[in-house]
Amino acid sequence: MKVYLDNAATTPLNEEVIEEMLKIMREGFGNPSSIHSDGRKTRAALEDARKRVAKRINASIGEIFFTSGGTESNNMAIKCAVRDLGVQRIITSPVEHHCVLHTVERMDSEGVQVDLVPIDGFGRPNYDALASMLADSNVKTLVSLMHANNEIGTVLDLKRVSMLCSEYGAFLHSDTVQTVGHLPIDVSQMTIHFLSGSGHKFHGPKGAGFIYINGDAQIKPFIDGGAQERNMRAGTENVYGIVGLAKALDMACDQLEERRNKIEDVRQYFKENLTSRFVDIRFEGDHDGDYLYTVLNVSFPANDKSELLLFNLDISGVSASGGSACSSGADAGSHVIKAIRQGSDRVNVRFSFSHYNTREEVDFVLEKLASILDQKPVATWSE
Ligand SMILES: Cc1ncc(COP(=O)(O)O)c(C=O)c1O
Repeated sequence: MKVYLDNAATTPLNEEVIEEMLKIMREGFGNPSSIHSDGRKTRAALEDARKRVAKRINASIGEIFFTSGGTESNNMAIKCAVRDLGVQRIITSPVEHHCVLHTVERMDSEGVQVDLVPIDGFGRPNYDALASMLADSNVKTLVSLMHANNEIGTVLDLKRVSMLCSEYGAFLHSDTVQTVGHLPIDVSQMTIHFLSGSGHKFHGPKGAGFIYINGDAQIKPFIDGGAQERNMRAGTENVYGIVGLAKALDMACDQLEERRNKIEDVRQYFKENLTSRFVDIRFEGDHDGDYLYTVLNVSFPANDKSELLLFNLDISGVSASGGSACSSGADAGSHVIKAIRQGSDRVNVRFSFSHYNTREEVDFVLEKLASILDQKPVATWSE
């Protein structure tokens, strides 16, 4: 048996998404910028995808731009806000994804003031501290905070942050890569200037993403060249990927509750069994409160058995990760865990779920964990 529990890193393509992509690959090869009928046909598919994506987050069609994924969208939001909107200060948190943190570091090296908002033990920003930081700001400020943390699943109160940003006149960017297609997002319900999505996080293709740019945030092109994406992102569009992304997002949103219930059941079953059968198990993030249901970050006591846990899970047929995809396979130490648990020597594994996972798979993982950790049943294992 093989069990895939690394869905926060990437998800398997949905069969219907593959079908839709194959169709456009076979029939829609024209360049969407060409004015002949082959081009127009592909252009129509591209614009249909834009309309569908816009509808799913309640944006205007003109506010959606396709990119190569979450990394590019986040880079674009932050770098263009500094270059084109007069942003001189960025407030972010230490638990953001590296594509945000490293971009912000780059801006820091170019003279932008960067401040990290303090976080609590769940990895959630302190909203009062954020308010004071914003109140003290006398330059144009961008707040960049992720909607849900990819390693520990803690969810941000985006509306509250949006209200704070509006109150103090700051721009708001949110890395929503882990929540698009998993939690409802409605940009008409709050003021948010930029958010990002990535197809491969909701059973769509890799290399296809989008950025929502609020009509009030007038930025210039991120990639220069042709006039694609209404002059905002040059380069012939990845039409196959974009069509796949739109199909995957439609399915994710239409089936959101159904998928969510299935995943919650499997996650809860895993949690309960981990707690009852193993000693000294802890869960990171706001795992019982406001959490992203696809993620469960489990912390195991440090000992010689848990040391090579990820590696041993892998050779037992279980794919999980030590944090973001960059550190999966080798427990290189996650910057998120370090930020919330300074000095801890415990071993963290992020298990992340999709609606394809089952209780039977969880049973298999529990069995493998018991044998790797050499842990005897705490209660009634022999039943
Ligand atoms: C929170 C978060 N932001 C950004 C990214 C990057 O997205 P992509 O792989 O599409 O570049 C990821 C994925 O690893 C993520 O989890």
